[in-house]
Amino acid sequence: SPTTDSPAHSASTASTLITNIAALVTNDPSLGDGSPLGLIRDAALVIDGPRVAWTGDRSKAPATDNRVDAGGRAVLPGFVDSHSHLVFAGDRTEEFNARMSGRAYTAGGIRTTVAATRAATDEELEANLVRYLREALRQGTTTFETKSGYGLTVEDEARALRIAARHTDEVTYLGAHIVSPDHAEDPAAYVALVTGEMLDACAPYARWIDVFCEKGAFDGDQARAVLTAGRARGLHPRIHANQLSYGPGVQLAVELDAASADHCTHLTDADVDALAHSRTVATLLPGAEFSTRAAWPDARRLLDAGVTVALSTDCNPGSSFTSSVPFCVALAVRDMGMTPDEAVWSATAGGARALRRDDVGRLSPGAYADLVLLDAPSHVHLAYRPGVPLVTGVWRRGVREV
Ligand code: NIG
Ligand code: FE
Repeated sequence: SPTTDSPAHSASTASTLITNIAALVTNDPSLGDGSPLGLIRDAALVIDGPRVAWTGDRSKAPATDNRVDAGGRAVLPGFVDSHSHLVFAGDRTEEFNARMSGRAYTAGGIRTTVAATRAATDEELEANLVRYLREALRQGTTTFETKSGYGLTVEDEARALRIAARHTDEVTYLGAHIVSPDHAEDPAAYVALVTGEMLDACAPYARWIDVFCEKGAFDGDQARAVLTAGRARGLHPRIHANQLSYGPGVQLAVELDAASADHCTHLTDADVDALAHSRTVATLLPGAEFSTRAAWPDARRLLDAGVTVALSTDCNPGSSFTSSVPFCVALAVRDMGMTPDEAVWSATAGGARALRRDDVGRLSPGAYADLVLLDAPSHVHLAYRPGVPLVTGVWRRGVREV
């Protein structure tokens, strides 16, 4: 036909060799230097269809249909951003401006975004979501989780999740973000709605259930009610915990075997100990501390205790309006005590752990071919060259997107 040619393989099933990789982060400790990053120098990688077929020394690479010369640059797994709030409308420039003039961040600003989100059409919400997803992809994010939480009615929460589910498998129901303004006088009635009719409407679109356990949002008993109701409907728990103050969120996460406790900014020794003896990942979100001018979470303390740490953006219009995982990596290294290797691991393999996934966040045979090519000879440059757009190539499911 005049519109198609007939190659032996379609583009998505042909094998592609990426060679001349100065440093390849595999996150498979059985490969390369044996560190957690499984770093291979002078490496090559073979993509077959959507998956990685081979990684190793470039001199030993098998023959393939296509060949890409990485030019002595670094390749790492695509970032796994396990915490974002991308179904919203409007922005909160005024609130940010006020905060940078000295006002404190509180959960109350969420109401501004709830009003804008309710007023938006489905098309507007989806266009906004796609815009931030593209922005994230250009910066190397190939897997992302996103949440509802700016609708807070049965219909508005369900539509947020329906829209999100068109773009990711990692969808989280956060009807319990704050008590809906419509129920301000009766929080118990709102918890009943979140765990009843709203849950019924939302569960079909979501994999996860989340709650903002914080002063001004939900207390420990309310958070337990929300997460256990979700679990009874087949959703897996994750939680916004210990962001603005000490509280019961982290202990609750461990008690319920939540995949992740997110923020973890204010932790007691007992909280750290509980995490260290659990499968629950501590997901740190330094964009939030940056944008609210708050004290940093102590990643070093968690890592030294043996806690698994993930790094994500928390991209949302209130507390962390960045879609950039590289920015978060740089903050974590500069201000949270992480080494560059640890921060890169946490932003890739750590995010995958926080989503209980083993098909992303690593580049060894069988994993999805989700990878980032940096315009730099090493992954360390993500922290060493903050603010520089180093991501020059992105493959998702074996297809080059950037
Ligand atoms: O993760 N902590 C609760 N939710 C968001 C903030 C949402 C907002 O301010 O709009 C967070 O920081
Ligand atoms: Fe959040």
